[in-house]
Amino acid sequence: MIGSNSRFPSQGRDWPELAEELQQRRQAQGDMTWDSLRNLKASYNGGAEVSKIGWDAYTMFSGDNLIYSSTLYPSLESIGDDVIAMALEMLNAPEGATGTITTGGTESILLAVRTALNWARATRPVPGKAEIILPSNAHASFTKAAELMGITDIRVPIRNYHADVQAMADAVTENTIMIVGSAHAYPFGHVDDITALGSLCEKHNTWLHVDSCVGGFFLPFAVDLGHPVPSFDFSVANVCSMSADLHKYGYTPRGASVMLLRDQAWSQYQGFHFSAWETGVFNTQTISGSRPAGAIAAAWAVMNFLGFDGYRKLVEATLAAKDSMVNALATVDGLELCGTPHGGLIAFRGVDGLDMFAVREGMTANGWQTGVTVDPPGFQMILNAHSGAIVEPFLDEITSVIEQVRSGAIIAASGDISYGV
Ligand SMILES: Cc1ncc(COP(=O)(O)O)c(C=O)c1O
Repeated sequence: MIGSNSRFPSQGRDWPELAEELQQRRQAQGDMTWDSLRNLKASYNGGAEVSKIGWDAYTMFSGDNLIYSSTLYPSLESIGDDVIAMALEMLNAPEGATGTITTGGTESILLAVRTALNWARATRPVPGKAEIILPSNAHASFTKAAELMGITDIRVPIRNYHADVQAMADAVTENTIMIVGSAHAYPFGHVDDITALGSLCEKHNTWLHVDSCVGGFFLPFAVDLGHPVPSFDFSVANVCSMSADLHKYGYTPRGASVMLLRDQAWSQYQGFHFSAWETGVFNTQTISGSRPAGAIAAAWAVMNFLGFDGYRKLVEATLAAKDSMVNALATVDGLELCGTPHGGLIAFRGVDGLDMFAVREGMTANGWQTGVTVDPPGFQMILNAHSGAIVEPFLDEITSVIEQVRSGAIIAASGDISYGV
């Protein structure tokens, strides 16, 4: 039991024994296998070869720490610069743009909010408490950022699964320092009208952040394939910063995202500098201190292994799987696709009184893990290039689960509607 003082072994144990115990614990607890085709909740999978390259590169640099790159590991500077340069190019950033590799989407978002706040303090101080305006479906980490930085977050209800730009415009005050759009948002997978949000920001001299944590490494390839995706990146003039996760559809191991800035002059608002300290100057461009170098080497390796063409092929296969899933589930009474999602994440709501919590529990009991939506009640799926293979079994299973929910054989019991832990 955690909290007991009797668990730290006085003598060490051998690795083979420990490895076996770790494996046994996984099995005993019924952990989901991350790359299971039934893991539709939290798996971004570019295939076994891509994963292996990521892990091998990660292992090569696993002892190194990016915080010491300028003194101990200078190669990491250029490796990281390559990753940022590729991401900037992919997202149509202009000359003079820059970026930072972070440990994940939440850190990228915290960093963007901090940068915008410092930019506002320096260039257009507000009379009251700073505010950020965001659509209600923007990621929860913006609220975490606001809480940490003493900012008010104003979440404006979405309309038809998208940011309601007019309602966001109505919410702007003299204290607004930042407006947020998603490309795409997590709950339903829609890209907001970033162009309209850009005009709003221009009018009010306010920072525009586009959260592309899920879509950043997917949508550019969908656009290239001719899929209809509204303009969402730095090609929209007033986008100041973007977050895009390498460890999602970038298919790299966990612990890597990028936060990109249109103008490298704004880096001055991002960095943390502290010198009144016994060990000298402490300078970081991130929220984290130590950063896993392995994640950066892995991102570099995976991006160079796949190339633009490799990503495009994975996105093409994912979009084909998405079409088959959408068409298959369109035949099921009681389910309705939420809007017209732009990327590889799709969500379905219940109609005609179908209890979607019970449906999700029935699917979970049968080994299918999906995400959840509560307003409206439904489920969410993150699809990958291989997801075409699960369309039929998923359809069969959900058809049978829905019959059981309707007959009362399955009722919602656990009320588990959580995103994470
Ligand atoms: C749209 C969006 N933004 C940000 C995040 C946060 O990313 P992370 O979990 O890597 O911190 C997520 C996570 O799913 C997300 O979907």
